[in-house]
Amino acid sequence: MQIVFTDVNYSYPKAAAPALKDISFGIDSGEFVAVIGTSGSGKSTLCRLLLGLCEQQSGDILVNGKPKAENRLFANVGMVFQYPEQQLFAETVFEEVSFALKCHGIPEAKYKPAVHKALREVGLDPERFCDRNPFMLSGGEKRRVAIASVLVMEPQILILDEPSAGVDLRGRAFITELAKRKNAEGVTVIWVTHQMEEAAELADKVLVLSSGELLCCGTPCEVFNDERIVEAGLDLPEAAHLIKVLKKHNAPIKGNAVTKEAALAEIKAWKTGGASANV
Ligand SMILES: Nc1ncnc2c1ncn2[C@@H]1O[C@H](COP(=O)(O)OP(=O)(O)OP(=O)(O)O)[C@@H](O)[C@H]1O
Ligand SMILES: [Mg+2]
Repeated sequence: MQIVFTDVNYSYPKAAAPALKDISFGIDSGEFVAVIGTSGSGKSTLCRLLLGLCEQQSGDILVNGKPKAENRLFANVGMVFQYPEQQLFAETVFEEVSFALKCHGIPEAKYKPAVHKALREVGLDPERFCDRNPFMLSGGEKRRVAIASVLVMEPQILILDEPSAGVDLRGRAFITELAKRKNAEGVTVIWVTHQMEEAAELADKVLVLSSGELLCCGTPCEVFNDERIVEAGLDLPEAAHLIKVLKKHNAPIKGNAVTKEAALAEIKAWKTGGASANV
């Protein structure tokens, strides 16, 4: 599903400054998009607008060429909120994961296969977990249940608001692989993160917000080679930082690598005297 924001403005009631100012960008169907920006820059607000939890005061948000209201957006867009495990409410995992199906009037006969599929997608055995109380699970299991409760609707656009915050390395790898798999299935993924490596390694496109404005938007290579990133108080991915430092010390590196793999290729090319690819 294609998403187009045009001159979108949003202010929270009674807020002194707008949370989003004149935001315009496009996302193509099936893209993996990272949204980065310092704390308070408007990332979660942008997600809430797309999900339809709040309404912009001006500007247009079109999904597949239609305004949000005409799109059955809640069925097509799934959002995993920041710290989603805090929003668990049901007495059993089955009830928790099937809640969205109930809200959308899906016939009850379809709950079991859909819930089991969603639980398997997040690596939880339905036989073991369906009857458990979500509040009695470990932190990592709670987050998986919360993600399953979004996947159960098979959304075509999946928004993940800082999905890897507060999880260990294995948990982070699991969520990353899940998002990559959904994206490979054709789902548009919008991934909000403070981890620049995640943005560089995962995304086709990076949106950079700064104080409610869209600072820049482009491929990871374009964005992390834009001087305004550092001026806006954001870090560079380690690989991009390394390449920058090497160039500053006159290393004959021609490319602008921002991922580990690309940086390694550029350093190898330098050391072996070959040409480095501009990646
Ligand atoms: N419910 C609210 N009422 C009033 N102002 C809000 C509300 N939620 C967010 N804001 C303000 O809107 C701005 C953008 O907030 P938002 O939550 O979108 O930032 P963010 O980029 O997601 O930050 P973080 O990285 O800390 O999650 C901030 O100035 C914030 O204080
Ligand atoms: Mg946020």
